[in-house]
Amino acid sequence: MIPLIPLIAIDGPAGAGKSSVARRLAERLGFALVDTGGIYRAVALAAARRGITWTDDAGLALLLSTWRIEQRDGGLSIDGEDVSEAIRAPEISRGASTVSARPVVRDGLLELQRSLALQAKRGAVLEGRDIGTVVFPDAAVKFFVTASPEKRATRRYAELSSKGVTISYESVLADQIQRDREDSERAIAPLKPAPDAVIVDTTALTLEQVVNRLERVARDKLMGGVGDS
Ligand code: DC
Repeated sequence: MIPLIPLIAIDGPAGAGKSSVARRLAERLGFALVDTGGIYRAVALAAARRGITWTDDAGLALLLSTWRIEQRDGGLSIDGEDVSEAIRAPEISRGASTVSARPVVRDGLLELQRSLALQAKRGAVLEGRDIGTVVFPDAAVKFFVTASPEKRATRRYAELSSKGVTISYESVLADQIQRDREDSERAIAPLKPAPDAVIVDTTALTLEQVVNRLERVARDKLMGGVGDS
C-alpha cells in the first residue's frame, strides 16, 4: 500500500537523538509527529497500573482492546489522563522493551500507528524501531539514526538528570545495552535498518546539524528540491 501523504520514517536505537530530531524535522516541514516508542511505553504504563504483568499476553490483549489512547499536542493520554511524563520513567523504559517483544502487542499496535500517521493533513514523521521495515515499508523517506553506545547513554543520562531523576550514568549505560540487545535480537520486528534507509551517525554531530541533514535529504526525496543548509 503506497501511503497517500508523504511519510518519513526515523528508526534507530535508544538515545540516538531520534525524538528531538523527529520533533524538529516535523516542525520544519509542517508535518505531524508520531512517537511510536511513546505508544509502547504507554502500554507498559497502563499494564502496570492495571496489575497486568508485561509478559501476560492475554492481559495485554485485553488492555489493548479496552484502553483509549490519544495523541494530542505532542503528548499522549490514556483514558483521558496525560501520561507524557509518566511514560519516560526508567522502569517504564524496561517495561516498554518487554512488551514490545510480544507479538500480541506489536500486532495490536500496528493499525493504531498507521492511522495516527494517515490522519495527518500534510504528512507525518514517525519515530521508532520498525517504521521503515514493518509499519510503513513504503514510506517516502527512511532514516536510520544511530550513535555510539557511550554517546547515547550520555544523552539519556543528561535528559533524566535534567528531569530530576536520580540515576547513575553506569546504570543508564547498562540498561541501554540490555535494551539494545533485546530490541535487536527479538524474533519479531527486530531493530535493523531498512535496506533503503539513509544511515545517519550522530555521534559527532550537533542536534542542529542532524536536523539540517535530515531536512535536506527529506526535501530532496519528497519534492526533488534542494534543502537550505
Ligand atoms: O524510543 P523509546 O525509547 O521511547 O522506545 C521504547 C521501547 O519501545 C524500546 O525498548 C523499543 C520499543 N519500540 C519498538 O519496539 N518499536 C517501535 N516502533 C518503537 C519502540
